[in-house]
Amino acid sequence: MLHLFKGGKTMSKPKRIGILTAGGDCPGLNAAIRGVGKTAISEYGMEVIGFVSGYTGLIHKEFVELNEDKLSGILTMGGTILGTSREKPFKISQTDGNINKPELIKQNYHDLGLDCLVCIGGNGTMKTAAKIGELGLNVIGIPKTIDNDVWGTDVTFGFDSAVSIATDAIDRLHTTANSHQRAMVIEVMGHDAGWIALYSGMAGGGDIILIPEIEYNVRSVCKTIEERFQEKKAYSIVVVAEGIKVPEGYTAAGYISHCIATYTQVEARETRLGYIQRGGSPTASDRILATRYGAFAVETIAKNEFGVMIALQNNSVTTIPLNEVEGKLKLITSDHHLVVKCRNMGVSFGDDY
Ligand code: F6P
Repeated sequence: MLHLFKGGKTMSKPKRIGILTAGGDCPGLNAAIRGVGKTAISEYGMEVIGFVSGYTGLIHKEFVELNEDKLSGILTMGGTILGTSREKPFKISQTDGNINKPELIKQNYHDLGLDCLVCIGGNGTMKTAAKIGELGLNVIGIPKTIDNDVWGTDVTFGFDSAVSIATDAIDRLHTTANSHQRAMVIEVMGHDAGWIALYSGMAGGGDIILIPEIEYNVRSVCKTIEERFQEKKAYSIVVVAEGIKVPEGYTAAGYISHCIATYTQVEARETRLGYIQRGGSPTASDRILATRYGAFAVETIAKNEFGVMIALQNNSVTTIPLNEVEGKLKLITSDHHLVVKCRNMGVSFGDDY
C-alpha cells in the first residue's frame, strides 16, 4: 500500500476497484453496481471503474470511470449499464488466434492499478472469477441469476423479479384457460434448475409443475389432466421448466401441450415466457438483496478479504471461498419444503403414475 504525504498527514493511496457484469442479464444488476460504487466512493473513498461487456471489457481494457453521477438514477433500471457477455477467458477457442486472454487480464489489472475485481454473475462468472484468483489477482464474486442455481447462497438477485414476472403471466393464463376450458402450458426459464417453475408454479396456483430435478412421465401428466376434466375442473395450468427432458426438436412447453392435445380430450395451448423474465425493473426485494451484496463486497475488500463469493445464508450476508462454489449447481431436492407442500395440496410433479 503506497503512503502519500499530504501536508505532513500520512494518506494511504485510495483503493481502486473494477466491476464487471457477466452472463445472462437480470433485474437488479444496476442495483448491485450502485451498491458497490456508492459504498466504495462515499464510505471508503475508493475509486471505481466498470468494465464494458463483462470479461470482454477486462480482456480488451474497455472500461468507464464510475462516479456518483454515473451511479445516479440506476437503482430501478433493468439490465446493466455496463453491458454483459458470456465470454469465457479460460476457454481456448479457435477464433482467439494467439491472444492469451488470462495474460491480458493480468496485465490490464496491473496497468489500471486495480486492488480488486468485483465480478457479478452466475455459475460461469464465478468459475472464471475463481480462475482469475488463481492468477494471483484479488477478486470477489457477487451471485446473480434469475435461475437461482448458484451453490452456496440461499438466493441470487434476479430470481425474485423473474418469479414475479412468471407469476403475473400465470395469473393471466387462468382467465383465458377458464374461458376456453383448456390446459395452458407455460414454459419458464431456469436453465438446468427448476426454481422459477417451482416458485411461480406455487405462487400462480399451478396444477402440474414439471422441473428437471423430478423425473416426470407423460402418462402421469395426461392422466392428471383427464382426471381434472372428469371432475369438471374447468381448466388446468401446467408450469414447466425449460430444462425438463423432452424429445429432440421439441421445446418443453411444445412437447407437453402436444401430448395433452394428443392423448387427452382437453384442448391445450402453450406459452413460452422467455426473455420477458429477464427484463424490466427489479422488484423491491431484488433491489435490497443486490444492494446488500454490493455493499458487503466493498466492506470485504476494505478488510482485504479476497477470493470469495458474497452469499446470503439464513438471511445473513457472508462470504464463501470461490473455489468451493465453482463447478457446482444448486438444484431442488425431492424433499424440498415447497415440493412437499405443493404435493400435500394436490399439485402433481408428473410422477404420480
Ligand atoms: O441463465 C439465465 C438464462 O436466462 C437461463 O434461464 C436461460 O436458459 C439462458 O440464460 C439463456 O441464455 P442466453 O441469454 O444466452 O440466450
